[in-house]
Amino acid sequence: MEGTVINDRYKAVRELKPARDGKIYWVVEDQQKGKELKMLKGIALFDEKQEEEAKLEVDLLRRLDHPHVVKLLDDISFTAPNNQNYRGLILEYLPGGDLSQFFQKKLENEGGENEEEWEENDALGICAQIVLAMNYLHGENIIHRDIKPENILFFADEKEIKIADFNVSRVTEGTMSTGIAGSMEYIPPESLQAQGNENASFSLDIWAMGIFFQMLCTFRHPFATGNLFQTINNIAQNLRNPAEVVFPAMESLIQECLKIDLGERAANAAALMNHRSIVSLHQILT
Ligand SMILES: Nc1ncnc2c1ncn2[C@@H]1O[C@H](COP(=O)(O)OP(=O)(O)OP(=O)(O)O)[C@@H](O)[C@H]1O
Ligand SMILES: [Mg+2]
Repeated sequence: MEGTVINDRYKAVRELKPARDGKIYWVVEDQQKGKELKMLKGIALFDEKQEEEAKLEVDLLRRLDHPHVVKLLDDISFTAPNNQNYRGLILEYLPGGDLSQFFQKKLENEGGENEEEWEENDALGICAQIVLAMNYLHGENIIHRDIKPENILFFADEKEIKIADFNVSRVTEGTMSTGIAGSMEYIPPESLQAQGNENASFSLDIWAMGIFFQMLCTFRHPFATGNLFQTINNIAQNLRNPAEVVFPAMESLIQECLKIDLGERAANAAALMNHRSIVSLHQILT
């Protein structure tokens, strides 16, 4: 892999993640842009399904332009040394890793000598960037459908973030809703109960944001156990892990997102823009 040059332009530097489901994730040097580092997400085109999936992701990313949404820089096709054809998304490379890695690191260092401070304002700063980006996406009628720590990336400084992975995102038509997607741990209770008739709208993202916001305080998923069945049961019954202390300024925001009753949950990210904690931060950020 290392040293492979794709389309006479992108030179593989290292694997960002091991290949999975026919997808490759490489850091590449753009030889036409002073060896600037970029990320290559390659999707193997085994059949029409992958082709369609790749096309949807590219078409969606192409129309997005927001400081906290990852940018698509180039869209390529290439044949790997094993003769497999790929669609390649060249994305801006964010060197800080994803938030799942970050939470993992925080938990490992908890109480130890490498523990670094993490304060309410750190959590709120990230929270506000997510709300801004999601407000933009929802305003464009896009449901991300896979908001979770793995899909939120840090800039080098671990202060700024971008939302990534639009693989299962969809554009809604008017008030039309779409089905559910993404990881089970982030699916709201009403969708878990829908038994195949799932309707999902912006409230799907809001629920996942609530889980993520809580993780920004505790680094732990509020409902997760080591067992997926048990986790889903906890979500369905609203049984949160005990002893979860969240930052006071985040509490009501989290609650607005994790309302079981859809009528009470924030309907979309715009509804969170006026939250007092977010308003005060936006004044700092913008
Ligand atoms: N632009 C980027 N810069 C740095 N790291 C990235 C970037 N995009 C993705 N990553 C890392 O690669 C991982 C996988 O990327 P991504 O989420 O897009 O693919 P995926 O989860 O396999 O998605 P899917 O299978 O739904 O297409 C992320 O969790 C993140 O750690
Ligand atoms: Mg992902």
